[in-house]
Amino acid sequence: MTAQNNSDIKDIALAADGKQRIEWAGREMPVLKLISQRFAKEKPLKDIRIAACLHITTETANLALTLKAGGADVVLCASNPLSTQDEAAAALVEYGIPTNAIKGEDDVTYYKHINTALAHKPQLTVDDGADLVAIVHKDKTELLDDIIGGTEETTTGVIRLRSLEKDGKLKYPILAVNDACTKHFFDNRYGTGQSTLDGIIRATNILLAGKNLVVSGYGWCGRGIAMRGKGMGAHVTVVEVDPLKAIEAVMDGFRVMPIMDAARIGDIFVTVTGDKHVIDKHHMEVMKDGAIVCNSGHFNVEINIPSLEDMAVNKRRIRNFVDEYTLKGGRHIFLLGEGRLINLAAAEGHPASVMDMSFANQALCLEYIVKNRQQLEPKVYGVPEVIDKQIAQLKLDAMGVKIDSLTEEQKIYLSSWKEGT
Ligand SMILES: NC(=O)c1ccc[n+]([C@@H]2O[C@H](COP(=O)([O-])OP(=O)(O)OC[C@H]3O[C@@H](n4cnc5c(N)ncnc54)[C@H](O)[C@@H]3O)[C@@H](O)[C@H]2O)c1
Repeated sequence: MTAQNNSDIKDIALAADGKQRIEWAGREMPVLKLISQRFAKEKPLKDIRIAACLHITTETANLALTLKAGGADVVLCASNPLSTQDEAAAALVEYGIPTNAIKGEDDVTYYKHINTALAHKPQLTVDDGADLVAIVHKDKTELLDDIIGGTEETTTGVIRLRSLEKDGKLKYPILAVNDACTKHFFDNRYGTGQSTLDGIIRATNILLAGKNLVVSGYGWCGRGIAMRGKGMGAHVTVVEVDPLKAIEAVMDGFRVMPIMDAARIGDIFVTVTGDKHVIDKHHMEVMKDGAIVCNSGHFNVEINIPSLEDMAVNKRRIRNFVDEYTLKGGRHIFLLGEGRLINLAAAEGHPASVMDMSFANQALCLEYIVKNRQQLEPKVYGVPEVIDKQIAQLKLDAMGVKIDSLTEEQKIYLSSWKEGT
């Protein structure tokens, strides 16, 4: 079956534009390029069937081409209904990689696309949010016989998988790519930090300087958004439930307060917690007229959108990715990107330079699973330290940054208890 027959995309005519964009992203992905060149020679994934449920972006396209270069038989589907770049999807099909993803697809189509990817009978699953794993474990257990293992890209997915493991129900090994330092230190912090603000700005064209920006969640992503928001002149308030993160935010120079208080002062709200109803009805009831709310966490449940719908007397799409809700009494709340990941809905997701490291982890972890398939058990594993260190070194080399190494004397000193004052 050709890639085109086995795909569902918006328009194949977008492929030429998509190819150029994929090439552009690839310029910022030198580590993945090195892996791709080695994979092309060594074919470590020869004839391995892979189903990958990822944001269909130009960076993901570079990963898919790397896996294909390694000999894999890859099928892609979207990991979010609003994150697909239709040009990238079209180019992937022309590159011979079956792709099922259309920006703005409804939930029925979203799950149809996931099922098409699973019909490929994968031996490896690649997830961003654990949707493939969840469907295989719930509805398609007959696929388990063929599956060697899988990888998971994001925090929310790792949480879901650890819960499956804790219940004793995880049936195959997963490497938690998100837990690699070369992933969350950079992708979640600098990637989500920059691209979330990019999404807000592209959707609204508002000036951040002087605005009250409320960031719910001061984890890896929240730190990045708060830091970059401050850099653009916003007055940043952080909302947390973890005392340690809250102290960190205070000492990083941010105001910290409960969401009920922040709700009254915020001009722009961003949720990035991986939690549910972080902005709830009673918070929206006290927001200022014109408050902008959006989410950059994995699922669209962080803002209680059904309540907002109930509270509204009128709703209209005032700009792309901006829904104006008019409430009783005349106040307005603007919801961006339907509450879905705003950096992918209204902008282009993370810049390629950080996805270089995230996807280098994906490629090397998939190779690792195939090589070590006999030893791996049905557990959630961290990324082997040797892979993390190798990627960090390759990234530094690509950036032309040199660092020192320990002298023999220092190595002995650092591994000894004998020397003191
Ligand atoms: N937009 C993107 O492209 C992108 C990229 C990476 C991760 N993510 C997603 O973003 C979310 C956060 O990821 P992370 O790596 O920062 O996770 P994290 O675990 O490092 O941080 C989450 C923080 O939210 C806090 N939190 C939880 N419930 C809260 C509540 N009710 N109010 C306030 N704070 C609360 C937690 O205490 C924690 O500090 C996840 O859903 C993850 O999958 C999105």
